[in-house]
Amino acid sequence: MSKKILVTGGLGYIGSHTVVALQEKGFEVVIIDNLSNSSLDVLGGITKITKISPEFENLDLREKQDVNRFFEKYSDLAGVIHFAASKAVGESVQNPLLYYENNINTLVYLLQQLKEKKSSNFIFSSSCTVYGQADELPITENAPVKRAESPYGNTKQIGEEIIADTCKVVPGLRAISLRYFNPIGAHPSAQIGELPIGTPQNLVPFITQTAAGKREQLSVFGKDYPTPDGTCIRDYIHVMDLARAHVVALERLLDGEQQDNYEVFNLGTGKGNSVLEAIQAFEKVSGKKLPYSFAERREGDITSAYADTHKANKVLNWKAEYNIEDAMASAWKWQQKLEEKEQ
Ligand code: NAD
Ligand code: WQD
Repeated sequence: MSKKILVTGGLGYIGSHTVVALQEKGFEVVIIDNLSNSSLDVLGGITKITKISPEFENLDLREKQDVNRFFEKYSDLAGVIHFAASKAVGESVQNPLLYYENNINTLVYLLQQLKEKKSSNFIFSSSCTVYGQADELPITENAPVKRAESPYGNTKQIGEEIIADTCKVVPGLRAISLRYFNPIGAHPSAQIGELPIGTPQNLVPFITQTAAGKREQLSVFGKDYPTPDGTCIRDYIHVMDLARAHVVALERLLDGEQQDNYEVFNLGTGKGNSVLEAIQAFEKVSGKKLPYSFAERREGDITSAYADTHKANKVLNWKAEYNIEDAMASAWKWQQKLEEKEQ
């Protein structure tokens, strides 16, 4: 039986860590990436860790003919993990059509190919953003999906619906959507990690760049939220734990263990940390004092989000193994490696 897995967006942040996890479990990987938010160097990083160079196709999934040709060439795929998407929330507000094209068309083209097969396995990168500000914490998979705050968030909600609707009429298609909470950290070897282009919008890359002296100080957005220390609470999950969850989810699909041919899982640690706690965790593991000051609330931010992970714990037999300090230590090691490279 084929053990070849297509990983779209496999040179990106979460995709590259998942490629490593797949190779370490004996899967063969073929990556599709158009390098719009990644670099070819990542292939070298993956190969340094696993000693196996994955196959790579530089292809834009928005080009339907190219996608069709790819599936003609690779007709024996055991599964597809679909990471490729645009992910900057603010940019999606400015340029919604880019997001609808890149996040929706690409998904449709892939599913159109899988629909033609007798059986196929598909994993989709979704996000806790689909819950918005949930009424109850921790957030279970049954929490209602709220009206999306941004076109980006909307693409994840619509994406999930497209998969659910397709699974209803294509019994040979088995699919899982994984709703990530806040992915952070890097591979412990520091060979691969997150590569933010321009000024980072997310907390952890901003923290590590500030500690490295690239940014003057961190602005903590809001200090009067109804939380114990007044700052927002998130569920920060190590990218290594996330990567492993994809392998486990894929094995569930391949083993035909699903109750229903479409399932949804939260991927988080189950623990919420405030922005100030995240800073403290970074300071503890790096031994560096982080310059920061309080700023206005950031538009669109929710107060608190953390996962109820019981479903993934029980059904996937998966549990996050790393804590926020482990993740911060790996993010810092990765940042230092990037600085060395720049010198
Ligand atoms: P990333 O930008 O690092 O990786 C995405 C990769 O896809 C990049 O390498 C990019 O070059 C590639 N890509 C984009 N459009 C493409 C196209 N049309 N054709 C081919 N390749 C294309 O992002 P990431 O952080 O690794 O996120 C992966 C997935 O997880 C995305 O779907 C994202 O929406 C989702 N997600 C991310 C987070 C997060 O905070 N990082 C949280 C929840 C969900
Ligand atoms: C975390 C906390 C900020 C930067 C985003 C997307 C979401 C998902 C994950 C893809 C918040 C605070 C941040 C800074 C700060 N992505 N912060 N100063 O907003 O939870 O989620 O990434 O699906 O869809 O919206 O993550 O890392 O941006 O922020 O104080 O310079 O850090 O206010 O409380 P967020 P984040």
